[in-house]
Amino acid sequence: MSEFLLEVKNLKKYFDTPKGKLHAVDDVSFSIKEGKTLGLVGESGCGKSTAGRVILRLLEATNGEIFYKGKNIRELKKNKMRELRKEMQIIFQDPFSSLDPRMTVSEIIEEPIKLNKIINDKEKRFERVLELMDLVGLSRRLMNTYPHELDGGRRQRIGIARALSLDTKFIVCDEPVSALDVSIQAQILNLMKELQQKLGLTYIFITHDLSVVNHFSDDIAVMYLGKLIEKAPAEELFSNPIHPYTKALLSAIPRPTLDRKVDKIILKGEITSPINPKDNCRFANRCNYVQDICKQTEPEFKEISPGHFSACHVFSDHLSGEFE
Ligand SMILES: Nc1ncnc2c1ncn2[C@@H]1O[C@H](COP(=O)(O)OP(=O)(O)OP(=O)(O)O)[C@@H](O)[C@H]1O
Ligand code: SF4
Ligand SMILES: [Mg+2]
Repeated sequence: MSEFLLEVKNLKKYFDTPKGKLHAVDDVSFSIKEGKTLGLVGESGCGKSTAGRVILRLLEATNGEIFYKGKNIRELKKNKMRELRKEMQIIFQDPFSSLDPRMTVSEIIEEPIKLNKIINDKEKRFERVLELMDLVGLSRRLMNTYPHELDGGRRQRIGIARALSLDTKFIVCDEPVSALDVSIQAQILNLMKELQQKLGLTYIFITHDLSVVNHFSDDIAVMYLGKLIEKAPAEELFSNPIHPYTKALLSAIPRPTLDRKVDKIILKGEITSPINPKDNCRFANRCNYVQDICKQTEPEFKEISPGHFSACHVFSDHLSGEFE
């Protein structure tokens, strides 16, 4: 049995567009141990949500393998996949759009339990709904209210309760706090951390904001135009970033605790199109360190020190091999 709950190998998702193939996720590989969090970061349009949806098979991959508990789930038939969905869930950025406005809080949380025939007895099902409301810190007096009567934090708690209502082990959290006020963000992040410890959950935590995943993730993977460009344990990524794009992302975070002043790196140049991209470094147009080789060949995503991977001709190539 693999030591990983999830292993993604050479995952690709291309969309057909009138202008050609859009490489939303392009040869991405990573793995996550049970009970751990992988933060998946990168700017808008880099393919984070597509990767999350493809892993859950809400979208079919173009190519690659997705191993969950050692089984390639891309080979599973519909009914087996339906069974597995009880373990694999998603939480969205805007819970409002995913919550039926005509249903009350308790009906919304009850729905997946009813549809999946987890608990058939009505009273017992109601007990479970109350238990879930307690678990996510939603007061029981809110059970007959409607989503529009609640604030964003409480709505996200409903989204989390729904995601936990089945036999949940793994959750793709797609920007779950991005739409919330900063003070509420912290409450929801704390709740998610608590639930992870209590229930042994495994998360992929998607965000465009590196500062959100700093204390939350075990590992952080940085995406750029469909590619993973760096991945490392969270602390290592923050203290020793290798890739120029990661450095630029980090420089944009205000960090008052650091005595060393980090100048914000402003990225210039046009973003490369994800449609029919060339086999070169996709960051080359915006990189301050670009060399001829960067425009000709794609840098390999390789391990530079134990657990620290990066794809850069200039900064990874001369470092790799040192720890062997
Ligand atoms: N159904 C689709 N058809 C065509 N292109 C798509 C489709 N879904 C996503 N894309 C494209 O795939 C790329 C990746 O999109 P995706 O939504 O995964 O990015 P993201 O990193 O989640 O961005 P954001 O931070 O804005 O949510 C984008 O160029 C997007 O336009
Ligand atoms: S491979 Fe070249 S262009 Fe790409 S990030 Fe590294 S230095 Fe910059
Ligand atoms: Mg997204």
